[in-house]
Amino acid sequence: TRTAADEVNALLASYPDFPQDGILFRDLNPVFANAQAFKSIIDALVTRFSGTFDAVAGIEARGFLLAAAIGYAADAAVLAVRKGGKLPGTVLTEEYDLEYGSARLELEVGQLPAGSRVLIVDDVLATGGTIAATARLIERAGYVLTGVGVVLELAELDGRSRLGDADVHTIVSV
Ligand code: PRP
Ligand code: MG
Repeated sequence: TRTAADEVNALLASYPDFPQDGILFRDLNPVFANAQAFKSIIDALVTRFSGTFDAVAGIEARGFLLAAAIGYAADAAVLAVRKGGKLPGTVLTEEYDLEYGSARLELEVGQLPAGSRVLIVDDVLATGGTIAATARLIERAGYVLTGVGVVLELAELDGRSRLGDADVHTIVSV
């Protein structure tokens, strides 16, 4: 039988010079668009982090696709970490650099009980700036980061080194 890693390796698409010259864009939409592959990656992440989290934080936009499914499958709460300017009320903000460009990520305060165990999920770990900023938001909000689950890691960019001693699991590393 095919593992989640087999599914990702079979379906991952790569686009040179998108969205700008010098970037090799990794497109996981073919994985999400295949019912068996999507179920496989969700099940792999749920199993790997089983019992370790009360809530799953998805990062806008592509992380949302994973977080909703993982939250449902694991009976966990879902947190939406959003790009800057989208959230009302009292909001925590972190600036971060992307592989291309820079941006802000935000989280509303008071969504979960203090000390809640949070799993961060996203599609791709590249430079690690996005997940590192999200980890800071989770900790500033009073929660405990217990894991980071990612479908695809771009190992040459060494994003893991920006995530400290977090329990990071990636389905495929290229
Ligand atoms: C992409 C990807 C990850 C992030 C990884 O998101 O979905 O979230 O970049 O890059 P990093 O490890 O270098 O920070 P992007 O910001 O392009 O936005 P999207 O998810 O809304 O498409
Ligand atoms: Mg993203």
